[in-house]
Amino acid sequence: MDIKSLVDPEGGLINRRIFADPEIYALERERVFARCWLYLGHESEVPNPGDFVTAYMGEEPVILWRDLNGRIGAYLNLCRHRGNRVCRADRGNARILTCSYHGWSYTSDGKLALVPMIDAFRELEREKWGLIPVAQVDSYKGLIFGTFDPEAPSLTEYLGDMAWYLDILLDRREGGTEVSGPHRWVLDANWKTAAENFGGDGYHIFSTHGSARELGIDTTTNQTRQWNQGCQIACGNGHILVSWITPPDGGPWFAQPDDELVRYMKEHAAEIESRLGTMRARKISPSAGTVFPNFSIHWLTRTIRVWHPRGPDKMEIWSWAVVDKAAPQAIKEKMRFVSQYRFSPSGVFEQDDMDNWAQVTGAAKSLIGRSYPANYQMSGNEPPIALDLPGRTMSRFSDNNQLNLYMHWAKVLEAKNWDEIKSAAS
Ligand code: FES
Ligand code: FE
Repeated sequence: MDIKSLVDPEGGLINRRIFADPEIYALERERVFARCWLYLGHESEVPNPGDFVTAYMGEEPVILWRDLNGRIGAYLNLCRHRGNRVCRADRGNARILTCSYHGWSYTSDGKLALVPMIDAFRELEREKWGLIPVAQVDSYKGLIFGTFDPEAPSLTEYLGDMAWYLDILLDRREGGTEVSGPHRWVLDANWKTAAENFGGDGYHIFSTHGSARELGIDTTTNQTRQWNQGCQIACGNGHILVSWITPPDGGPWFAQPDDELVRYMKEHAAEIESRLGTMRARKISPSAGTVFPNFSIHWLTRTIRVWHPRGPDKMEIWSWAVVDKAAPQAIKEKMRFVSQYRFSPSGVFEQDDMDNWAQVTGAAKSLIGRSYPANYQMSGNEPPIALDLPGRTMSRFSDNNQLNLYMHWAKVLEAKNWDEIKSAAS
């Protein structure tokens, strides 16, 4: 399959096949989801020895489990005997998980501990039949990621410049963050429609979310209408975000979607600036972004989410609210409310977005429509950004970020291994 021919960055054209084709999806499972670093969960979800949550890496079910020595590991949620799921719970605490089929039991470090009627097996070498581990697991300021590929670069290298922007959500206050959730729901849309939207589609806000603005139920708009400057930023490795450039008297309270949160941010502005520095506390304010391939963040409304693929034309969305650990309880509640009010299955913005992504995916299945490419020709007409920021800054209303995402996607899909991904020109 000639993947590169599906993405034409010079012409600004994307072949609609990439949003619904089963063959492309099969390759994505292998080359994207079995190779890249994927979000597994937050450290605050597994604070104690024995704590676990179940998650997915692509379509692979996994258990994220803190062992009795405090080390976090991740394992395929698959019993080595016949393949039954070892863990059926969403979360919990266990020293041992026992498979419900024949009773094989595994300890929190993934080892096979107990096999009923073991004497009836000829020579079962228990040490060879532990849970299948996720090859690399690491965390960045509370966010735990894993990759099935032992050859993948370190998480730090993988995140690259994107980590500097993630700090603006994760490292504002002492103690970092904690999460609540996830909300989970299924949508008839390809996962990339959401990943590209969160990665920089400032263009859709006026029409898609116009009703929220007209009704006056989006309180961020007052500030951003009066001061409407920003940029797209491509961080490399397919990571992309869109950010406001804040006004000269701006600060971490800029465009906060609630008066109480504006007050909270003003109260803690000095601490935030001392942790993040002036540029990240006062000059920029990221809105939304995507860590390649399927982890997205909305800084302002404090949602993080995974677009789990469920076939070429379906995804399962998992969405958490992120709050500062050091915030008073009332502020945490407000932050959670703000997050869910806008982005959750019933969120005022989420509902607007979801319908569009399903329609875009539908177009990729249209007998006639799929032979016409999708348009990504918006190149932007705003003046260049004067700030010296990590990554490549581009016009906010453009398709540069989206094309950047798809060029990286094509590169990962074509490459046979990580050496080829690294050596291919971006
Ligand atoms: Fe798990 Fe048999 S499938 S014990
Ligand atoms: Fe939107």
